Amino acid sequence: MKFGYFDDSNREYVITQPDTPLPWINYLGCQAYFGIISNTAGGYSFYRDARLRRLTRYRYNNVPMDFGGRYIYLRDHESSQFWSPSWQPTRNNLENYRCRHGLGYTIIGSAYQGIEAETLYFVPLDENLEIWQLTVTNRRATTAQISAFASIEFCLWDAQDDATNFQRNFNTGEVQVEKGVIYHKTEYRERRCHFAYFACSRPTVGFDTQREAFLGPYRGWDNPVAVEAGQLTNSIAHGWSPMGAHQVKLTLAPGQSDQIIFVLGYHENPPDEKFDPPRSQTIDKKHVRPVIAKYLDCSQAGAAFDRLHRYWDGLLGIFQVDTPCVHTNRMVNIWNAYQCMATFNMSRSASLYESGIGRGLGFRDSNQDLLGFVHMVPSRARERILDLAATQLPTGGAYHQYQPLTKRGNNDIGSGFNDDPLWLIVGVSAYLKETGDWSILDEPVPYDNQPGSETPLYEHLQRSLRYTLNRLGPHGLPLIGRADWNDCLNLNCFSDTPGQSFQTTTNKDGKVAESVFIAALFVQAGSELASIAALRGLATEADRYLAEIAQMDAAVREHGWDGEWFLRAYDDAGAKIGSQQCDEGKIFIESQGFCTLAGIGLEDGLAEKALDSTRKYLATEHGIVVQQPPYSRYYLNLGEISSYPPGYKENASIFCHVNPWVMIGEARLGRGDYAFDYYARINPSKREEISETHRCEPYVYAQTIAGKDAPTFGEAKNSWLTGTAAWNYYAISQWILGIRTTLDGLCIAPAIPKQWRGFKATREFRGVVYRIAIERSGEGNRIALTVDGLPIAGNIVYPPADGRKEVNVRGILT
Ligand code: GLC
Ligand code: GLC
Repeated sequence: MKFGYFDDSNREYVITQPDTPLPWINYLGCQAYFGIISNTAGGYSFYRDARLRRLTRYRYNNVPMDFGGRYIYLRDHESSQFWSPSWQPTRNNLENYRCRHGLGYTIIGSAYQGIEAETLYFVPLDENLEIWQLTVTNRRATTAQISAFASIEFCLWDAQDDATNFQRNFNTGEVQVEKGVIYHKTEYRERRCHFAYFACSRPTVGFDTQREAFLGPYRGWDNPVAVEAGQLTNSIAHGWSPMGAHQVKLTLAPGQSDQIIFVLGYHENPPDEKFDPPRSQTIDKKHVRPVIAKYLDCSQAGAAFDRLHRYWDGLLGIFQVDTPCVHTNRMVNIWNAYQCMATFNMSRSASLYESGIGRGLGFRDSNQDLLGFVHMVPSRARERILDLAATQLPTGGAYHQYQPLTKRGNNDIGSGFNDDPLWLIVGVSAYLKETGDWSILDEPVPYDNQPGSETPLYEHLQRSLRYTLNRLGPHGLPLIGRADWNDCLNLNCFSDTPGQSFQTTTNKDGKVAESVFIAALFVQAGSELASIAALRGLATEADRYLAEIAQMDAAVREHGWDGEWFLRAYDDAGAKIGSQQCDEGKIFIESQGFCTLAGIGLEDGLAEKALDSTRKYLATEHGIVVQQPPYSRYYLNLGEISSYPPGYKENASIFCHVNPWVMIGEARLGRGDYAFDYYARINPSKREEISETHRCEPYVYAQTIAGKDAPTFGEAKNSWLTGTAAWNYYAISQWILGIRTTLDGLCIAPAIPKQWRGFKATREFRGVVYRIAIERSGEGNRIALTVDGLPIAGNIVYPPADGRKEVNVRGILT
């Protein structure tokens, strides 16, 4: 069953039924001001940092799950009836409900008793504000007297404190209302230079800023007393819960439409221009007033919306494909790229499943996110790389995360994840391959943000690699530390106390537990660094890396191979994990995926064997599970992985993030059918038809899908913020379709299904547009290329020497 449909020509997903299995959300904003918006207008907004600069309040795990948001109410003054055109919060029986989630905007509309309403929500580029553009149309035969109410609840900035520190917070709330604009200025009197505002394009007949006056003390958003009464009360909040509500009266003749714009925004004043007059407590508004005035103007708002459209046309235009598979086209051309923007911006901080207070930007996660993002806005990828590297520790180690607002690393969710540093090499390498901007390697970057500690970025990469080599275990494999990619494989933790965090509980500084996964990551990252070193003219260094890689490769073969597949790890007692010998958790996906992705065992059949075992033991109709059999009980020596019930999360769910590693491994083996088959199994668009089972949004990937051992096999969870976005994008575009960036040119090496007759693609790469047409003339994936009609040797297309800006590439597969 479906709850909507893809409108590919408008690049929208149109939800036609408001009660989707879970709230289906979208993101507003893609630079500094962000919002989450659900298909029924739920959600919240923040500036840069979902924890430290939250503009509006949101209660997670609410009942119903998604309640509180950008709510508009309409009230018919004749019948006294009121309703929300977004269905929530009043949940009337609407006609023609639809929610169009588009690229950076959402439009929600419906009709009720002859009154049509539609609201467009978006964040203009380069502004710290959001626009709600409401259009109300009277489809009745008689004139209608309607009041439109728009409401938000302010958060007192620090979302964590806001949800806990009531003894203080119920006293601090302050607002100011001036010329129809509601200013939220809690704590502005002292250490904050920022405030929020909520404005309306039309003269209002009332406002409220005290939540209790608007809702009534014993009511909720579904039944606000002031809306019911048909008149807001002009309340001024003193402490308690400041909110913003506006009321506008409309008289609409039959067929007549009217438009109102509401603007919710964030503004920061220079410290010496906080107040006007200077020593008063009145906000100085000289900088913000023109911004507000600008966007309350319909034509300016319209222009900003057009600009947003063109922005996305440009971003998506960088890579477009035309394959025989509609789901592939849709995901690559629109939604997967779009999701990569969200993961780049949010890392794992703010979604419906990440509360915005727990996790900032992850070191490991953000580096991986670059794989799917770097081609879109390389300059921002560059900035991100430098920010991440600046949090790196002098040892080469890494904080696991940093807060986006302060850009400082912290140990809030642990440290000593021994895979972390290597991802920096992967991220930087992706950037270099995309841009050819070698200057980044010479950028001075500090360690642990300490001024004076700067070295060129290149040295950070050297230290990353060294970090692993300095931490090898008894088998010559990397020590795992707190955990590797699998945060839940906690081999040095031994937690037996309820409530302890597996991520932060003091770790034994173990010298035994080793990770085959990190070994594979080392081989991959090491060869990337070796290529970089070689091209930098550092031949000796490059050779040393190659020797170290060869040694690691040998250690994996000798101690990391279990006969039919790659082992996963050794625990603190030196016992194997992911082996025939284990009762549970005999085979894991991570080592099969990453070893083959890194090219280990490609030549001598190990890779093939490992992937055949993956297919045999781990692949299901809904995707590939993490391990088999799942852990049926808690193992002190394994940690959090065994804390999840079988089939969920790291304990044998389909962790969509790692499925692409297997796809890439298959592609490297030239098995395009298998690679694409795995791609299709977890493709959200393909899964749209089973939305009742899948439950999450059909236009973006979720982190996990319940595995075959779970009672809810096939049910997705944790949509949006997952490395799945970048890895799937990377796997399909660079390995299956095979349009791959390399340090010196664009490689064309598809590994596509046998039945495909071919495909077309356009790729902008380092200022040149490549128009690529691939045709099949045999069943294999051997390619012969012509560039503008002339055959070339090999599969790398170099930038045209004569400065041409467009190139036609034809590839014949045999
Ligand atoms: C989550 C984390 C990621 C980790 C994965 C597996 O997605 O964000 O860093 O690798 O879980 O545990
Ligand atoms: C939990 C999750 C894991 C995530 C980690 C982040 O362990 O299972 O997926 O990476 O938290 O802290």
